[in-house]
Amino acid sequence: MIIENVKVFLNGKVEEKNLVIENGEIKEIINGSKRGEEKIDGKNLLVLPGLIDPHVHLREPGATHKEDFYTGTRAAVAGGFTTVLDMPNNPKPTITLERLKEKIDLASKKAICDVGFHFGATSDNFKEIRKAKPNSLKIIMGQTTGNLLITDEKTIEKHFINFDKEKPIVIHAEDQEYCEKNKHDGPEAAWLAVEKVSLLAEKIDRRIHIAHTSTVKEIEIAKKWKKCTVESAPHYLFLSKKDYDKLGFRKSVKPCLREEKYRAKFWKNIDKLDCIGSDHAPHTLEEKEGGAYGFPELETSFHLFIDQYSKGNVSLKWITEKMSSSPAKIFNIHKKGEIKKGYFADLIFVDLKKEWVLKEEELETKCKWSPYNGWKFKGKVFGVMNKGKMKYWEYEFLVD
Ligand code: DOR
Ligand code: ZN
Repeated sequence: MIIENVKVFLNGKVEEKNLVIENGEIKEIINGSKRGEEKIDGKNLLVLPGLIDPHVHLREPGATHKEDFYTGTRAAVAGGFTTVLDMPNNPKPTITLERLKEKIDLASKKAICDVGFHFGATSDNFKEIRKAKPNSLKIIMGQTTGNLLITDEKTIEKHFINFDKEKPIVIHAEDQEYCEKNKHDGPEAAWLAVEKVSLLAEKIDRRIHIAHTSTVKEIEIAKKWKKCTVESAPHYLFLSKKDYDKLGFRKSVKPCLREEKYRAKFWKNIDKLDCIGSDHAPHTLEEKEGGAYGFPELETSFHLFIDQYSKGNVSLKWITEKMSSSPAKIFNIHKKGEIKKGYFADLIFVDLKKEWVLKEEELETKCKWSPYNGWKFKGKVFGVMNKGKMKYWEYEFLVD
């Protein structure tokens, strides 16, 4: 198959190229045409590498009233993602090999894009981790959705020693003791936790990855240790406590939204981030009224940034690096993250001119609400190819 008439973001610039796809991979990137191949008219769209979201909560099994592998991956594809990494904090958390296998089985029947899995750390599942050999381990240090929580530093240290040092341990870094003692979850709780884990990681000489950083200071503390990578979620760059009135009961998220001054400073320092993980955390509106933490983000994560690109506030290089090549490197995902000969044909086709307004009732996520409802966007995902198969075209799904 040959994709013609597209603008491809390659080596830091937009180039008119044709892409030859064979057996789900990019076979060639060429200038001219080829005879005898099935042709796709790329309609002059911008082609970027399929996005990778390393931080999503797809809720299956156990909380499929919020989301499941089908609705969650539909939301992913509509948002430009061809790969997502699912978090382990299900009602019955992913903390044994058996539960990991159960998830893989469910996802392989229902997911419409590629899904990988983080494994949960508990106070005593060291043997299970060695048996399951997951690609990443999640340690949750501050109370959030579910019952995975490790506050004891000795246990964290044991996991840091036990788990393969070349694979990332993802940390939800908020100091639970600080939050309980001070009865609030301000940025100090995050700074303290990041300080603790990065010092520990340095002592043991291992990789760690800090999830959802919410202030520049967390990054600066973490980056004192060279094997520490950092992620943030769109809501810490696009929302702050200033939006609390508008968000009403929808506002809760862990870590909580920060003061506007932190958000503004964070935006100016986005180059310090290694990657974006949306922390797609769907809950029903009823549950949100009850205080549930998290925002659905899969359909807005890329769109928020491509809209900023249209305004000149962020580059295509930044977007593709933080949302594709860098998550692939951090999480050891092979043949993904770049448009390159021999890599999987994971591609997204973007209409940069499309102006649209987010209507939450039209979202693919099962929870059908968004903190960005009514926001205006410029630029929209028009098509998505995953391993050579067109899954989405002209804003419609081609798979069931
Ligand atoms: O807001 C959040 N929601 N933060 C988390 O750490 C977990 C997530 C969820 O699973 O609901
Ligand atoms: Zn999360």
